[in-house]
Amino acid sequence: MGSSKQDKTLIESKSLHVQIKDTSVLKGLSFRVAKGEIYALLGGNGAGKSTTLKTFLGFNQASSGAAFIDGLDVSSSLASVRKKTAYLPENATLYPHLTAKENVEYFLSLAGLNKSASEIENTFDLVALQKDAWERQLQTYSKGMRQKTAIALAILREAPIFLLDEPTSGLDPVAIDEFNQLVTELASSGATILMVTHDVYGACQVANRIGLLRKGELVGEFEANQNERIDTEVVHAAFAQRQP
Ligand SMILES: Nc1ncnc2c1ncn2[C@@H]1O[C@H](COP(=O)(O)OP(=O)(O)OP(=O)(O)O)[C@@H](O)[C@H]1O
Ligand SMILES: [Mg+2]
Repeated sequence: MGSSKQDKTLIESKSLHVQIKDTSVLKGLSFRVAKGEIYALLGGNGAGKSTTLKTFLGFNQASSGAAFIDGLDVSSSLASVRKKTAYLPENATLYPHLTAKENVEYFLSLAGLNKSASEIENTFDLVALQKDAWERQLQTYSKGMRQKTAIALAILREAPIFLLDEPTSGLDPVAIDEFNQLVTELASSGATILMVTHDVYGACQVANRIGLLRKGELVGEFEANQNERIDTEVVHAAFAQRQP
């Protein structure tokens, strides 16, 4: 946990401004995420969380400032950036009429990747997707199971950087705990994770650092230390703009 100056920065937003139509959605956003870190960008509805992630994938353009993935400016190195990045959108788009295996095989083939059946099965095991569901169509899945399938796909893409948009929204507390544990394991094995959420408790459970985003601006940062997680009460109070 924690970070130091020699840690390699893999995700960086530098005075990022994003304008959508005539609205300034991001207003000079700056933060960095080092290799192996979990950074949670926390903010209310409309704060600009999804816009931030989409900018790292080149779906929005910076009007000034820049977004970097592994030192590459997203606006000029989009193909390399997308290869290094696994993105979980707010509503993961997998096919309801395909099974988990078929979905994963299909999306991997689109990405030009060929994985053996055993690699896919090992990854389903890793994300704790129950075995009797692997050959079932996704339309029979709970939201948590669909989320596990999407995470399995992200892991199989072998991208070192994960961008997760509200990954636990709609999951039950047990599914959230499982998910948080998985994210923690991914980071310990060297993955770098930027997740956006409005869940204070979940963010404090997993993040090394939390950035509080309000109306497109970073209004606070909180960092875990070696022995202690970030204090939920302190972050909640800052989020709600009251005294802890
Ligand atoms: N394509 C768009 N056209 C117009 N306005 C947009 C567009 N995308 C985002 N915005 C505006 O930008 C602001 C931030 O949106 P964004 O989706 O990034 O928020 P968010 O923090 O992800 O919110 P939520 O918690 O509801 O998902 C909102 O005010 C939204 O209306
Ligand atoms: Mg959003």
